[in-house]
Amino acid sequence: MSSWSPQSWRNFPILQQPEYTDKKHLNKIEQELKNYPPLVFAGEARNLKKQLAEVGNGDAFLLQGGDCAESFSEFNATNIRDTFKVMLQMAVVMSFAGGVPVVKIGRMGGQFAKPRSSDFETIDGVSLPSYRGDIVNGVEFTKEARVPDPERLLKAYNQSSATLNLVRAFASGGLADLHQVHRWNLGFAKQNKMSGKYETLAQNIEDSLRFMEACGVTSKTYRTLRETDFYTSHEALLLNYEEAFTRQDSLTGEWYDTSAHMLWIGDRTRQIDGAHIEYMRGINNPVGVKCGPSMSNDDLLKICERLNPENEMGRLNLIVRMGANKVLDDMPRLVQAVKAEGFNVVWSCDPMHGNVYKTANGFKSRPVEGILTEMKEFFQVHKAEGTVAGGVHLEMTGQNVTECTGGTFEVSEEDLSSRYHTHCDPRLNADQSLELAFMIADTLKEARK
Ligand code: PEP
Ligand code: CO
Repeated sequence: MSSWSPQSWRNFPILQQPEYTDKKHLNKIEQELKNYPPLVFAGEARNLKKQLAEVGNGDAFLLQGGDCAESFSEFNATNIRDTFKVMLQMAVVMSFAGGVPVVKIGRMGGQFAKPRSSDFETIDGVSLPSYRGDIVNGVEFTKEARVPDPERLLKAYNQSSATLNLVRAFASGGLADLHQVHRWNLGFAKQNKMSGKYETLAQNIEDSLRFMEACGVTSKTYRTLRETDFYTSHEALLLNYEEAFTRQDSLTGEWYDTSAHMLWIGDRTRQIDGAHIEYMRGINNPVGVKCGPSMSNDDLLKICERLNPENEMGRLNLIVRMGANKVLDDMPRLVQAVKAEGFNVVWSCDPMHGNVYKTANGFKSRPVEGILTEMKEFFQVHKAEGTVAGGVHLEMTGQNVTECTGGTFEVSEEDLSSRYHTHCDPRLNADQSLELAFMIADTLKEARK
C-alpha cells in the first residue's frame, strides 16, 4: 500500500465529480477552505466511534437520518428544528418502547453533494448537465444554473457551520431535555393515529420522570436527562472539499475529516481501487459504506480490510440498501462472508434507496410499505444469521411533505403534488418516520425477550 496523505486520493481514478471550467478559481476556493475552522473536533468523532462500537455489539441502536440533499433555498431554522425534533421523537420511541439507547446522527450540516445515475438530464429534447447538489450547481433546468460554480463550496460550508451551531444549541440548550417530550410532537401530526400513540408514550415517560424526580434523579443532577449527543454526517463525495477539512489532531497526531463526525461512501463510488476508498482509509472518523445489490462478497471483504485494518468495532458501518424483497436474496451472503472472516462491523439498513419508483403522474416516490418491508427483512436476516441488526439510515424531514406514498396517513399518488419539496430523493414525513420508529421499537423489544 502506498503511503496516505489528505491528497493521495488525487492519484486514483475518481467518479461522480463535477467538471469545473475555471480551475484557477477552484484552486483559490480550495485554499480558502483549508484555512476555515473545523466544523467538528477529533474528540467528538472518537466519542461517536465508541458509541457505534456499542451499536455493533448490540447494546445500542443507530438512528441516522435527514435530507437526501440539503439545499440553499430550504435553509431555515424551522426545517432544522423540526428534523431534529422528529429524530428525538423516534429515538425516544425506540429507547423507551424498544429498551435500548439510541445513537443519533443527522444527515445534515454538509449533506449537499449528490451522485447521479446520468451525467445529463433531458427534458423535452433539451439535454443539460445533471444537478449534482447545491454545493456544485443549481437545480433549475437552465444552462446557466447547471454550470458548476466553486463559490458554492463556500456557501455550503457557511450553511453547514450555521446548521451545526443551531443543532449544538438544540442538543444542549434545553430542547432535548426529556421533560420536553410532549413539545417534540409536531403540530400538523397531532390529529392522527401515530401522534396519539406518541402522546401515550410521552405521558408514560412523563410519569416515569416524575417518579425518578421523587427519587432525586433530576435534569439538574443528570446531564443525560437534560442534554443529548447529536452527531452530523454526509456522503464524502467531493473529495476536494473533504481534503480541505482533513486536519491533524493535536492530541494524537491522527488525521480526521473535520467536516462531519461521520462520513460515508455512496453505492456508486465504492470501487476498491478508486479515489473514495483511498481517501477514507486515512481518516480516523467512523466511516460508512453503502452496500447495494451489486456489492460482491469479495469486494466487501476487501473494503473491510482496507478501511478497517485494525478491525476496530465502531469504525466501519455497512449500510445495506437492497430494496424490499431483494434483501433476502442479496444480504445473507454478505453477512455470512463478513462473519466468516471475523470482521467487526456495524450493520445498518437504508430502506430508502432500493425502493424508488416513478408514479404514473411523473413523481419519483417510495412506498412506505416497501420501506417497512425492507426494514423487517433486515431484522429477519440478522436473526437468522445470529448477527446484530445495528441501525437504520433514513431520508426524512420534520416538514409535512407528501413525497413517499402510503403510511397510516395514506398519502396517495395524487397527493404527491401538494407538498413535494425535496431537491433529490423523496423523504419520509414526520408521521411516516414515527410509524417506522414504532415498528423498529416493537422488533427491538421482541428481540430483548
Ligand atoms: C444517498 O444516500 O442519498 C445515496 C445517493 O445513496 P446510495 O449511494 O446508496 O445510492
Ligand atoms: Co438519496
